[in-house]
Amino acid sequence: MRPKKCKSAHEAISIIQSDEFVWTHAMAATPVVLLQALYKHALSKKNITLMQLHTEQPDIEAGELEGHLRNRCFFVGTSTRKLVQSGHADYIPIFLSEVPLLFRRGTQKVDTVLVHVSPPDKHGLCSLGISVEATVAAIEKASKIVAHINPNMPRTHGDSFVPYELFDTVYEEAIPIHIHNQAKQTEVTTRIGKIIADLVEDRSCLQMGIGAIPDAALEAMDNHKDLGIHTEMFSDGILNLVEKGVISNRYKAKHPHKIVTSFAMGSQKLYDFVDDNPEVVFLDVGYTNSTHVIQQNSRTVAINSAIQVDLTGQVCADSIGPKIYSGVGGQMDFIRGASLSEGGKAIIALPSTAKNDTISRISPMLLPGAGVVTTRAHAHYIITEYGIAELYGKSLRERAKALINIAHPKFRAQLEKEAYEALDLTI
Ligand code: COA
Repeated sequence: MRPKKCKSAHEAISIIQSDEFVWTHAMAATPVVLLQALYKHALSKKNITLMQLHTEQPDIEAGELEGHLRNRCFFVGTSTRKLVQSGHADYIPIFLSEVPLLFRRGTQKVDTVLVHVSPPDKHGLCSLGISVEATVAAIEKASKIVAHINPNMPRTHGDSFVPYELFDTVYEEAIPIHIHNQAKQTEVTTRIGKIIADLVEDRSCLQMGIGAIPDAALEAMDNHKDLGIHTEMFSDGILNLVEKGVISNRYKAKHPHKIVTSFAMGSQKLYDFVDDNPEVVFLDVGYTNSTHVIQQNSRTVAINSAIQVDLTGQVCADSIGPKIYSGVGGQMDFIRGASLSEGGKAIIALPSTAKNDTISRISPMLLPGAGVVTTRAHAHYIITEYGIAELYGKSLRERAKALINIAHPKFRAQLEKEAYEALDLTI
């Protein structure tokens, strides 16, 4: 009789065997209690692969689970960064839109899925709550599902529903949902946010990534009108604009009058807002991030960030040199979708420097080993606190000039010299 109700998380995950590929529900819905139990359980097993996006999971010390469990990261976050950088976990560069395809096409095997869900409703459906991402696809293909049922998980609308009967084992416990605090603003991020906001026209449809720059841009859009939201991540910055009446979703071609997202990360207030709210639809990330879908909303504006941009417009976002820092994520999905949308704008915004103004993030060449996430053919608007470089349709020489103009002033002369010496570009 499905599902088996378990008295402990450990009992629930004990159906996982050696050599299995396990997918975990992610973002702020990470099933932390199940993962903690899995780490203990894995010590009695061999060769379990834990597949994940960004997760808010308990840290594992490098080497602690060697031979028992290895993380396979489709996006690298704080909890997995050290493991990946020290060679104790693997990183897979992939567009976020294509992670569900890996499962659906059978490229990536999945045996068991761990989920963190709301209790079943009167129809016997649980909700994946604040994170749908690639978990729906993993559920379709997995042979076993282990669920942590948490009364505090919001019941969200969209692709989030999973029949209770589909679960193999369930463990019930009320725990608080992970809160993600907004990043601190600095003078630089506030300035960048203002420059972005000035580029955004009324009736635009927005995609925002995580972090101080997207938050600053949203804060500066107080006086905009009739904005729409079609994004992978829903945050408090967006909610503030909903409350101020700036977001109406009225002019979207796809899902008018609805906020479309794949996951939410933020405050309890944000989670209360999405709870049982049919105006917010949580959809499979293969759909939210599909270029084909994104481009159908006119004036789509994609706002993403970067680690480094070279003078030809190549954007490194997933590594610092060869050291993997994050992931490809949805950057290219939305940069391309926004470029193809009528009147759309694809924006990469970053502070001009790193490490207390000692490093220019605009550099003649990317660091050796740096990963190009957005190619120079895809890059349109690059923004720093010093302004906007419009690269679309520009030659290499014109690009270098535009990018040097938005570099920190103290690095401009050096950049011009290096552009000439290393790239043969006379500015
Ligand atoms: N050289 C050396 N170090 C650098 C650097 C450079 N050129 N650029 C940044 N850094 C360091 C920073 O100093 C910081 O280090 P610290 O944490 O020790 O202070 C770290 O790298 C992160 O930089 P920061 O500017 O704080 O990053 P962020 O939190 O704003 O994130 C990305 C920027 C690019 C990592 C992030 O946007 C990302 O992961 N993008 C790819 C995926 C994506 O775009 N998805 C879509 C939206 S979800």
